[in-house]
Amino acid sequence: MSATGGRQRKPWAIIALALAALAALVAALAALVAHRPDPGISPTLAQRQPDVERGGYIAVLGDCAFCHTATGGAAFAGGLPLATPLGAIYSSNVTPDRDTGIGRYSFPDFVLAMRFGIRPDGARLYPAMPYTAYARVSDEDLQDLFAYLQSAVAPVHAAAHANDIPWPLNMRWPLAIWISAFHDDTRFVVDPARDAQWNRGAYLVQGLAHCGTCHTPRGLLFEEKDLAGHSNLYLSGGRLVGGSPINLRANDGDGLGRWSAADVAELLKAGRNAASAVNGDMVDVVRHSTQYMSEQDVNAIATYLKSLSPAPASGHASFGATDATLRAMLAGNERSAGGRIYMDSCAACHRLSGGGESLAFPRLAGNPTVLSSDPSSLITVILNGSRTPSTAAAPSGLAMPDFGWRYDDADIAALATFVRSNWGNGAAPVAAAQVARLRR
Ligand code: HEC
Ligand code: HEC
Ligand code: HEC
Repeated sequence: MSATGGRQRKPWAIIALALAALAALVAALAALVAHRPDPGISPTLAQRQPDVERGGYIAVLGDCAFCHTATGGAAFAGGLPLATPLGAIYSSNVTPDRDTGIGRYSFPDFVLAMRFGIRPDGARLYPAMPYTAYARVSDEDLQDLFAYLQSAVAPVHAAAHANDIPWPLNMRWPLAIWISAFHDDTRFVVDPARDAQWNRGAYLVQGLAHCGTCHTPRGLLFEEKDLAGHSNLYLSGGRLVGGSPINLRANDGDGLGRWSAADVAELLKAGRNAASAVNGDMVDVVRHSTQYMSEQDVNAIATYLKSLSPAPASGHASFGATDATLRAMLAGNERSAGGRIYMDSCAACHRLSGGGESLAFPRLAGNPTVLSSDPSSLITVILNGSRTPSTAAAPSGLAMPDFGWRYDDADIAALATFVRSNWGNGAAPVAAAQVARLRR
């Protein structure tokens, strides 16, 4: 009986404790949400004159105009929808308009947004804005970039477009928790053991060029698994809606192991090289940003990427060249459904050997996009076709026709599986359900 009496009094004690814990949690949360970190600007920057023209080049390196310009809209006035698993997020107006743009921003305001994802009103930004990478950018580069946006860009009055994210995920305060859990706001650290070119490449890739926001795998809460090259997960292949940013590490199969630094640099400048061509979201990266980078900068990026060790083998495809597939097709022994579609619809350009045609049709044998652990880019290219951007280095873009109208999901899965498992390619098969998901 006395035990029962004890139990009757206990619930109040438990409720009081729970309320106290809740109050402490709410207070801690409120403090987190209200926290304004120090922007971390070096005091010596006050003596430096900003360079507006250089700021324009920083904007190209950071690809700001692409995300901050709506299709057919005024430059930097925002409104471009960015697809995320939660719904579309619309970019902000970053012209110097005082009411709808960043005209009232001070330089420390700008640095807080760029390094910490915090708006002047204290609201946190979604990581669709790549501050997870821009945190690496130097004071000098941010100063020139800010001067460029404030004085060389025309102010445009354009109010923000409401995001398509449903309640309660559209509330911004939980982003403060996300940022404190996953964001790393440290500046880029020069590695004294490496030369200036490598350090320049690492600075660009990890910072302004934000390659990792697409090419690094993400965790359950959308956090990049490595933000700055600490492990061999960095740049080991990402996932986008409708595309698969490849593994940029040294793996021989789905990575850049068999590419030279010159191949990487040429791809960034021209949108294609002797063996490969860009498609999907990578087309926009080349079109708006990398083709305008200086030779020194693309070479620095290539040097840095080529210094990366391979990603952990598990989940990454292999490649070992063989002519068995070519011999089977020439002898009339290739009778699989996928193989027959390949001979009918693909071999005219990509050849029976899978070797393509240098600078015209990409090589499918050993192609990282074909071998990617996530086959989304491969499937999307077959369904929708593709066109490389027209660049100064390669003015006539290459085009591949679409086949989505011609073949059903099972056919395309069989074809994709064939392409991923012949000429020495060793990647996992593709299921019809994966094709169905990517068909709009
Ligand atoms: C991958 C797309 C993307 C790129 C690249 C990008 N941004 Fe953004 N940016 C966004 C999105 C989306 C938002 C709005 C996020 C939100 O509403 O939470 C944003 C917000 C901002 C804001 C906050 C404005 C405000 O007060 O609402 C600033 C400042 C900004 N970006 C500057 C830049 C600059 C400068 C660059 C180039 C170095 C850049 N962005 C590159 C997507 C991008
Ligand atoms: C907006 C997302 C995005 C960003 C940012 C991005 N990439 Fe990509 N990238 C992709 C996708 C998607 C693919 C796969 C499609 C393809 O092969 O072109 C890809 C493919 C590539 C390829 C292989 C192209 C081929 O022909 O097989 C290379 C090399 C590459 N990216 C390098 C980079 C570098 C270097 C950066 C940073 C300067 C970068 N990417 C930034 C999305 C992105
Ligand atoms: C008329 C010539 C032509 C035909 C036919 C053709 N392609 Fe392509 N393909 C191209 C060109 C050109 C590109 C480069 C365009 C791009 O990547 O933006 C390309 C790109 C690709 C890529 C991306 C390569 C990379 O480096 O990222 C894949 C994968 C691909 N094709 C597979 C196929 C398959 C499978 C078929 C058969 C259904 C096929 N192609 C039929 C011309 C062709």
